[in-house]
Amino acid sequence: MDHFEYHDGVLHAEAVALPQIADGVDTPVYVYSRATLIRHARVFRDALAILPSVHIAFAVKSNPNLAVLKVLATEGYGADVVSGGELERALAAGMAPADIVFSGVGKTSAELIRALEAGIGQFNLESAEEGLELAEIARRLGRTATCVLRVNPDVDAGTHGKISTGKAENKFGVPFDRAAAIYARLAGEPGLAMRGLALHIGSQLSRLDPLEAAFLKVGDLMRTIRAAGHTVSHMDLGGGVGVPYKSGDIFPQPGEYAAMVARVTADWGATLMFEPGRVITGNTGVLLTRVVRVKEGAGHPWVVVDAAMNDLARPAMYDAWHDFAAVAPSGAQMTANIVGPICESSDTFAMARDIDTVARGDLAVFRTAGAYGATMANTYNSRAMVPEVMVDGDRWAIVAERIEPSTILAAERVPDFLL
Ligand code: LLP
Repeated sequence: MDHFEYHDGVLHAEAVALPQIADGVDTPVYVYSRATLIRHARVFRDALAILPSVHIAFAVKSNPNLAVLKVLATEGYGADVVSGGELERALAAGMAPADIVFSGVGKTSAELIRALEAGIGQFNLESAEEGLELAEIARRLGRTATCVLRVNPDVDAGTHGKISTGKAENKFGVPFDRAAAIYARLAGEPGLAMRGLALHIGSQLSRLDPLEAAFLKVGDLMRTIRAAGHTVSHMDLGGGVGVPYKSGDIFPQPGEYAAMVARVTADWGATLMFEPGRVITGNTGVLLTRVVRVKEGAGHPWVVVDAAMNDLARPAMYDAWHDFAAVAPSGAQMTANIVGPICESSDTFAMARDIDTVARGDLAVFRTAGAYGATMANTYNSRAMVPEVMVDGDRWAIVAERIEPSTILAAERVPDFLL
């Protein structure tokens, strides 16, 4: 459920008509609904309330906008960060350092030092090598790094190959059959406090059974590690719960997810940690765009919009579907290909799609663009960096300015040797 609905034939974000935002900031622009964000944060958190001890760290990568993080901090969320940049954002949003988890296969020494000094709550180690480096840094700084070890459970998440992370051939975590030995090695390192295991098998999961299979595997590993005399008090179950992008698609509800977790972990006796991203932010945003022109094609007409793959990369990268809807639909329908202005064929949002009839100058949205939308934007073809707006009831504000190509050009230099 979201707060992007038609009132008097015009699509609104909460109580704000989208044409108002297009008039104010121009298009393309991401529009977030604060009420939708809060709703999703609460539904997920309330579903997990059936579990005895829970920590939720929002996967910042899905939407790192400062205003979004601020709302989630207010809702009691911590953060799962994967870079120094994300760490600074989480801190700037007011998230308590103790509620921040640091994931990622390539944390640099500088990032490890900064995170230790900031006093973050947990490092999710992705290798023995990383653990040994962190231990050395922690000893040098006279600190202790609280850690869990990310294991690769070798489970097929059943999602798009480019967003699967839990198969043995993926770079993430330590090999399952090596995990107990690596845990024992790291648990003996002064400077580290090993407290558990982590996993994340992929994103946009449409079914719960791959998650359940992975949780069962790491549950067994937890028992093995405990039997060897080590502490396992925290189990980080990652993110991955998918959302419907196509109206009518059925996805697992947070309540079903929580019930599965409760069943599988009933006798674990551990604090359960979660790193949801898309399920919190996906439906919170739309990408508002304007039709540049409708061009005749060999087959279906080409609807050329002013948003492109640099603004919303998911269709080009993962053949992802985003529902397209006119802001002021006439009721008529057309079959069309929807594309952006960028000079390559991957700049395609949809082919042969039945959509609201649109014409030059009309406004439209790509729905479910709140997760992995603006955060993956770039300036390819020397386009602007797409801006972001947040709506709150009948108010709205720019929460990320459009960065004009001239600003980017001003950061470039022609060196002396070319003069
Ligand atoms: N935890 C870890 C360690 C992750 O790598 C991810 C996502 C998450 C949590 C959050 O997963 P979520 O709950 O959002 O599924 N750009 C892709 C998605 C990449 C996801 C990467 N990792 C897309 O647009 O679909």
